[in-house]
Amino acid sequence: MIRQIAVIGTGTMGRGIAYLAAVSGHDTVVFDFDRAALDGARAWIESTLLKGVEKSKLTGEAAQAALSRVHLATDIEPAVRAADLIIEAVPENLELKSDIFAQADLFCSEETILASNTSSISISKLAGNVERRDRFIGLHFFNPPHLMKLIEIVSGERTSSETVAEMQALAKKMGKEAIVVRDTPGFATSRLGVAIGLEAIRMFEEGVASAEDIDRAMELGYNHPMGPLRLTDLIGLDVRLGIAEYLAGALGPRFEPPQILRDMVAEGKLGKKTGRGFYEWNE
Ligand SMILES: NC(=O)c1ccc[n+]([C@@H]2O[C@H](COP(=O)([O-])OP(=O)(O)OC[C@H]3O[C@@H](n4cnc5c(N)ncnc54)[C@H](O)[C@@H]3O)[C@@H](O)[C@H]2O)c1
Repeated sequence: MIRQIAVIGTGTMGRGIAYLAAVSGHDTVVFDFDRAALDGARAWIESTLLKGVEKSKLTGEAAQAALSRVHLATDIEPAVRAADLIIEAVPENLELKSDIFAQADLFCSEETILASNTSSISISKLAGNVERRDRFIGLHFFNPPHLMKLIEIVSGERTSSETVAEMQALAKKMGKEAIVVRDTPGFATSRLGVAIGLEAIRMFEEGVASAEDIDRAMELGYNHPMGPLRLTDLIGLDVRLGIAEYLAGALGPRFEPPQILRDMVAEGKLGKKTGRGFYEWNE
């Protein structure tokens, strides 16, 4: 039974995951080595709870109770000591994440489940430094975690079926839908998302249609809420390129990035964050 959740890394994803953990009734301890990020996360959780009350998504009492369940830790040891589940959400870097898990493994109880929010790194590789590989799992939330419906549960080579079942129960308690995916490159979501995105970029490169019309094909023809080129602009062309290169290495040339994607990244056209991608983004 998961009572206390520790969230490590309180950036874009970590703070949203902490919000979800607290709102769904868990004692939530958040740790970030950057004090400003930690304070920012608490302020964000508070203002998101307030907005929820304004929109009648939760009562004032429920919001107060959720906020009182959020505790800040300025070191990893107090953050993980009493946790039943640790969710790591530090930047996408194998060494950094492995180091966090090696430390957490030292300080938490033997029963604690270790989970990573990685979007692409192999769960079995990440589990390399810890003893409890049966209690190591991928818990992939989507941005923003409090609004997106899906949690992708990634089962590593040694993850036990009990650990998967506990995470399925947690997802339900958080009001999410879970899918279970075997630990393979790109899992289900990144692999499918990148496949569609790369084909759309190739079609744009070949002049099949304008960016707007390629996007409309999927929005109106297939009911996607957003077309693949606009989505690539939001994610960042550099981020997409990085994942495509990784998947091409792991799964073969069908994920080879189109030349135009490489050229746009080299020209600094990274999408919304630089104001220019497949679209112009003026604030
Ligand atoms: N941003 C997204 O859309 C998205 C979606 C799904 C999954 N992810 C994955 O989630 C993870 C986090 O991504 P993000 O976008 O939230 O990153 P981010 O850069 O916004 O936040 C990372 C946080 O980790 C903290 N941090 C770094 N090193 C640390 C350490 N040693 N100890 C404690 N804290 C540390 C940083 O101070 C920062 O606050 C990545 O693995 C990413 O691939 C991101």
